Amino acid sequence: MSPLRPWSAARTAARVPLARLALLASPGHPSPLAAAATPAEVERVLGATAAVTARGGPAQVEIQLGHFCNNRCVFCASGQLTEQGRAQPVPELQVVRALEAAAANGVRRLTLLGGEPTIQDAFLPSLRRAVELGFADITIFTNGTRTADARFVDAVASLGSFTWRISIQGATEAAHDVAVGRRGAFQRIVAGLALLQARHQRVTVNMCLTTHALATLGALPALLLGRGVGQLCIDMVRPVSAGERTDAELKAMMPTFAAAGRALRAMLAELDARAPDFDLNLTHLPFCALPEAAPRIRHGGDATVTFTADLDERQGVMDKYAFQQTDRRKLPECAGCVFFANCSGVPHAYAAWHGAASVRPVTMAEVVAADPTGRALSVAGDQASAEWQQARAWVDRIVRVARRGGARVGWRGALVRIELREGTLELWPRTEPGIAIGARAVAPQAWDATTLRAVNARLAAVIKATRRG
Ligand SMILES: C[S@@+](CC[C@H](N)C(=O)[O-])C[C@H]1O[C@@H](n2cnc3c(N)ncnc32)[C@H](O)[C@@H]1O
Ligand code: SF4
Repeated sequence: MSPLRPWSAARTAARVPLARLALLASPGHPSPLAAAATPAEVERVLGATAAVTARGGPAQVEIQLGHFCNNRCVFCASGQLTEQGRAQPVPELQVVRALEAAAANGVRRLTLLGGEPTIQDAFLPSLRRAVELGFADITIFTNGTRTADARFVDAVASLGSFTWRISIQGATEAAHDVAVGRRGAFQRIVAGLALLQARHQRVTVNMCLTTHALATLGALPALLLGRGVGQLCIDMVRPVSAGERTDAELKAMMPTFAAAGRALRAMLAELDARAPDFDLNLTHLPFCALPEAAPRIRHGGDATVTFTADLDERQGVMDKYAFQQTDRRKLPECAGCVFFANCSGVPHAYAAWHGAASVRPVTMAEVVAADPTGRALSVAGDQASAEWQQARAWVDRIVRVARRGGARVGWRGALVRIELREGTLELWPRTEPGIAIGARAVAPQAWDATTLRAVNARLAAVIKATRRG
């Protein structure tokens, strides 16, 4: 069978009704119907993924050690497969083969996950082998149920230096325990965070933004700050990874993106006030839900190959982000959005429920008004809309003219302050102290060659006047 079966099955699934899609989908990512991958197939996916990385190899691999799990998260297929008695362990030998194939392809970043990796028989031997093979950056993606166990944590730490990526599914005991279907789970995580901090372990946190988690976002900064957490990733619910759920179940667990945007905005305000440099990623949040947070929003990531656990003790292999994209799409209403090229849209199921109201195209003017620092604009700038190209060309010209005039300026979003007032765009390259230049023009949508020439002429005059002054 094709090595890309899990991936191509999901592509097909993306076009079939939700009930069928739920049958095809499984945990972390892949399809439980996936076929075992032969060594040649593993090579092929590693190679294909390598093609998209600058360094000539996949940036990282992740290995599911088996779907078996001691939690029952409402949004995750692994807990459900365990409940149904369908979860199977992945034999240690198979994990070792995957590790060796990845290492031979130059991969140095690894994540072990599941199901719950820390309760699989292959966990410690796999970790030991990964260290031997020279993986430099190893992450243990865990629900945290064992991180309060000092003997276990010490046994792991004795093998090497790892990052513990802990899943917190609500910032309060009530919300987390309901979301993961296990009473006492939150208290274990809190105790585990204290132990890991005392042991000087690297810790990051992942959260799936269900309605349970959303209601508690206000408590998240207080929960994480001061506990040694180096990064937080908040991911939106991926229906393709949720298992067999009815539409009603999915709807109940998935907040609207508008509600998510509002709650995240309030949480970010507090986080930024208390810890402005805190590393926070928002994954799969449509940019239109919170445009000013654009620098923190991710759709995709470094090229990643996933070795999947399947239901028959065999293992598939797939391109993680290619798979995840199959669950989502942009809508006709996205046309013209300045974030178009960086956004993967919304899940198919969400689009089916909310239709055209799912998204709204974000304009350059809105981004500028929402984030005068220009950081959000620098994300919009990666995309190739005509509007952006015009604005960028203009900034390039400003910089060129300014340099000719003797000012030392650079082009980057961060170096440019942009303000929108009464329908005009003011753009001020930041220069060395003491040199001030600026320009004003009508909003870029309306620009044509004549306007650009006028802008340039005006700029040149401004710069001359500045230098004279
Ligand atoms: C699949 S779990 C495996 C590792 C471990 N059991 C844990 O919970 O961290 C890894 C992460 O996947 C996320 N996840 C699982 N199903 C998801 C879904 N349907 N949508 C978004 N994230 C999901 C969870 O939030 C969790 O943080
Ligand atoms: S703890 Fe992890 S693997 Fe288990 S059900 Fe929850 S998200 Fe899935």
